[in-house]
Amino acid sequence: MVETNGSEIPSRVAIVTGAASGIGLAIARKLAQESHRVALFDLSGEAAEKAAAELVAAGLRAVAYHVDVADADSVDAAVRLVRKDFGPIQIVVTSAGVEQYTAFEEITREQWNRVLAVNLNGTFSCIQAAVPDMVAAGWGRIVTISSSSAQSGAKNMAHYVASKGGVIGLTKALAAELSPKGITVNSIPPSIIDTPMAQQATDAGFFPGVEVIAPMTPVRRVGTPDDVAAACAYLCSESAGFVTGQLIGVNGGLYI
Ligand SMILES: NC(=O)c1ccc[n+]([C@@H]2O[C@H](COP(=O)([O-])OP(=O)(O)OC[C@H]3O[C@@H](n4cnc5c(N)ncnc54)[C@H](O)[C@@H]3O)[C@@H](O)[C@H]2O)c1
Repeated sequence: MVETNGSEIPSRVAIVTGAASGIGLAIARKLAQESHRVALFDLSGEAAEKAAAELVAAGLRAVAYHVDVADADSVDAAVRLVRKDFGPIQIVVTSAGVEQYTAFEEITREQWNRVLAVNLNGTFSCIQAAVPDMVAAGWGRIVTISSSSAQSGAKNMAHYVASKGGVIGLTKALAAELSPKGITVNSIPPSIIDTPMAQQATDAGFFPGVEVIAPMTPVRRVGTPDDVAAACAYLCSESAGFVTGQLIGVNGGLYI
């Protein structure tokens, strides 16, 4: 169901994964501000509830769902609930992700499988569960959040980088397959963005800190979740209908 909300911008139903924190939260807020009805998917149900409550308190339309994107049954159940609560889904943004820093020779099978399960399989499951609604409507927007590390490579992150490279490949494959049906599929590969994930990596000593990276960045500042959300909102907009299969870097020029 597409509402017009009295404005020129249609109100659509959007799922944002990893929406309780960082980049996903900023995207959920931005899409809700743009009049969309937003389903916040997160493994932390409590944090997602809190985030959704803040959006609702601001007069926006949002509902939280406790979802482990690595569990396809959990994804399917939540997508069914979103249809019941809001209607057919026309926008999916996949930001749920985990990172780990481990030397290649020390990555355990469990670590490899978990990173791939969340970052790549989770992206696949969420998109596949929602796509039939977009096909039926002849309109859809899919944005995956990958990583500039899949463009540049990164040491001690082979599992993470491989998962994000897979996300980029999946994005391109889906763009080729779904664009003729009115569905655009793009990826944002951010560089370092100031979020809890980046802070945890700094605290654990794996990363020097955003303030160290800022002067090395061509635009000379730290990337914010709102920087990513702005690019994502464009890719989800009516105006972006001719943009598909693209990597839209949000990286301050760090990777060109
Ligand atoms: N922050 C950066 O510098 C940076 C750079 C490049 C790419 N990214 C990517 O951007 C995305 C968002 O990262 P962020 O920095 O906002 O991280 P974050 O840790 O602040 O947020 C990630 C969210 O995903 C949720 N999540 C984790 N596993 C999940 C699961 N199995 N099911 C559902 N939700 C799950 C977490 O609970 C959390 O709310 C990630 O995919 C990350 O790989 C981040």
